Amino acid sequence: MFKSQLLRQVARAATTQASRTAPRTQPAVSSIRRFTSAPVRLEKSSSDDDVDAATTSGQPGQSGDHEGQYARTSSGIIVEYPEEKDLPPSNPVVGRGGVHAKRTLATFSMEGRVAVVTGGARGLGLVMAQALVTSGADVAIVDMNKEEGARSAKGLIDIFKQENPGSEKLPKVTAHFCDVSSPTSVDQSVAEILKAHGKIDNLVTSAGFTENYDAISYPHDRMQKLWGVNVDGTYMYAVAVAKHLMGRKAPGSIVMIGSMSGSIVNVPQPQAPYNAAKAAVRHLASSLAVEWASAGIRVNCISPGYMLTALTKKILDDNPELQKQWTSLIPVGKMGRPEDLMGAVTFLSSDASLYVTGADLRVDGAYTCT
Ligand SMILES: NC(=O)c1ccc[n+]([C@@H]2O[C@H](COP(=O)([O-])OP(=O)(O)OC[C@H]3O[C@@H](n4cnc5c(N)ncnc54)[C@H](O)[C@@H]3O)[C@@H](O)[C@H]2O)c1
Repeated sequence: MFKSQLLRQVARAATTQASRTAPRTQPAVSSIRRFTSAPVRLEKSSSDDDVDAATTSGQPGQSGDHEGQYARTSSGIIVEYPEEKDLPPSNPVVGRGGVHAKRTLATFSMEGRVAVVTGGARGLGLVMAQALVTSGADVAIVDMNKEEGARSAKGLIDIFKQENPGSEKLPKVTAHFCDVSSPTSVDQSVAEILKAHGKIDNLVTSAGFTENYDAISYPHDRMQKLWGVNVDGTYMYAVAVAKHLMGRKAPGSIVMIGSMSGSIVNVPQPQAPYNAAKAAVRHLASSLAVEWASAGIRVNCISPGYMLTALTKKILDDNPELQKQWTSLIPVGKMGRPEDLMGAVTFLSSDASLYVTGADLRVDGAYTCT
């Protein structure tokens, strides 16, 4: 079981409701507007105007209980990232690869490339690794959980065989242990990958995790770990791969997995350190894109919205109320599936996006547009 609990929103909502329905003092009526440095809301009457009451001239809550209701975090929500042994496994998707006769741009092909996917044992990383394999690349899966990585690597080859019967050439998919927050571990895994594949052309940094805690209570050691994996891990792996590319004088493409949380603040679950970490990932991509442009290394960011992985499914199964709140805030009304990132990662990794660098590609059902 997860050592996580979502403390019921309902109790909190009831408390908030009660305090909001308490009678409030109406501001004094004043028909003459004067220039003053005093706050406007103390001067202006809004008791007989509902629309005015919904502006800063009204007292908080004056126009109803709904004020700001969908734009608040709740400190009652705590979700810890599960222990390794409690993480649900994920499987490659079926029916997305295989031989097809539809014409498509040749520049989308990843034929002849070697791509590294950190956090590729599960979730979004696994499906993005599959997209690159389906598009022609050899892939090195890098993950803290080497067994799960090895199982996923085998799964990718099995699905490839199933969907490409009679294919003369099988992709090479390997699995490597790495804790991306450790510089030594990063260097060791890069050396191991180079031994197995001979080169690296592409990197996708999907190793990362989120936790929900209100800022006041988040334990410092957990916060350091969160930033260590999401920010340091992304940075260190990108630097290690860029060094290799520069040494080879070869062009390359790096795709960093950020999140829409790097641009907006999710509600109702509080997650300030995660949001800040993903904003850092997004800006790392822009900064390194500029720094490495002359070396022919492109760096972009993909910012997914709410995606239904095995882990998010488990959290939402336990908390159906949260699922309703999330989908009510997404313009398309639906969460994404991991395979909705397959096209985005292939586009940014391949020559189809040769002039795209420093970009943030949001794959979020328009969440961040509202
Ligand atoms: N699922 C979503 O809705 C969503 C939305 C936006 C962004 N993201 C981001 O996408 C990325 C992948 O998320 P996911 O939902 O697939 O998560 P996940 O937990 O399913 O997979 C993450 C993988 O990273 C690995 N990992 C964790 N710490 C590691 C470390 N220190 N070193 C190496 N590997 C490590 C885990 O073992 C796991 O296999 C994360 O960066 C996440 O923040 C996810």
